[in-house]
Amino acid sequence: MTVDLTVRTARLLLRPFQTTDAEAVHRLAGSQDVAAGTFLPHPMDRQAALSWITERVEDQTAGRGVTFAITLEESGEVIGAIGMEIVATHEQGRLSYWLGRPYWNRGYGTEAVSALVGYGFSSLKLHRIYAPHFHTNPASGRVLQKVGMTHEGRLREHYLRFGRRIDVELYGMLREEFLTKTIGKKGNGA
Ligand SMILES: CC(C)(COP(=O)(O)OP(=O)(O)OC[C@H]1O[C@@H](n2cnc3c(N)ncnc32)[C@H](O)[C@@H]1OP(=O)(O)O)[C@@H](O)C(=O)NCCC(=O)NCCS
Repeated sequence: MTVDLTVRTARLLLRPFQTTDAEAVHRLAGSQDVAAGTFLPHPMDRQAALSWITERVEDQTAGRGVTFAITLEESGEVIGAIGMEIVATHEQGRLSYWLGRPYWNRGYGTEAVSALVGYGFSSLKLHRIYAPHFHTNPASGRVLQKVGMTHEGRLREHYLRFGRRIDVELYGMLREEFLTKTIGKKGNGA
């Protein structure tokens, strides 16, 4: 898969992970708060963080997905990760993302997800992008609502995480909905 290497937003630069990011991934993704909403390995020591980065790079090389480090444009600091598993046969991407706890509730999640949705439809030419989130994680649902995704349903007791069965809320967007939304924003009606 040929992919653009960076995506820019107002405050963020999404760029490929490097092995030197392992320390930041360990520090940020290692927290229980972040693990609770994801399937990130937990506990995540520095070696597990390095393996996580290596696996993401391998997935990207094999065309199974894309993953970006979310960094602050101004300082270059790594604050999280965002990616998509891609099933080329169906032209479909499954979003996943996390931010370190100190960076929550400042709009960064919405900014990164919005950018990746745009990237998926515009650069990767996907037909559908979807995102499941744990029912116990309403902040993630709010992000998906804010980027204009549609709530498609609830999958009951779909996942098992830390010994608990978890309902999953499913959000999705189709290419034509993205295009309508984008054209609507430009206000040109074309
Ligand atoms: C989910 C996550 C990415 C959100 O990132 P973020 O940068 O905090 O998101 P934003 O600031 O853009 O938006 C968060 C929204 O959720 C709302 N929110 C936060 N906590 C909430 C809660 N407990 N209940 C309801 N809404 C909540 C915020 O008020 C905000 O909505 P608003 O702008 O309408 O006020 C972040 O919390 C995170 O990384 N969590 C751990 C990993 C994770 O759960 N990843 C998602 C896997 S599906």
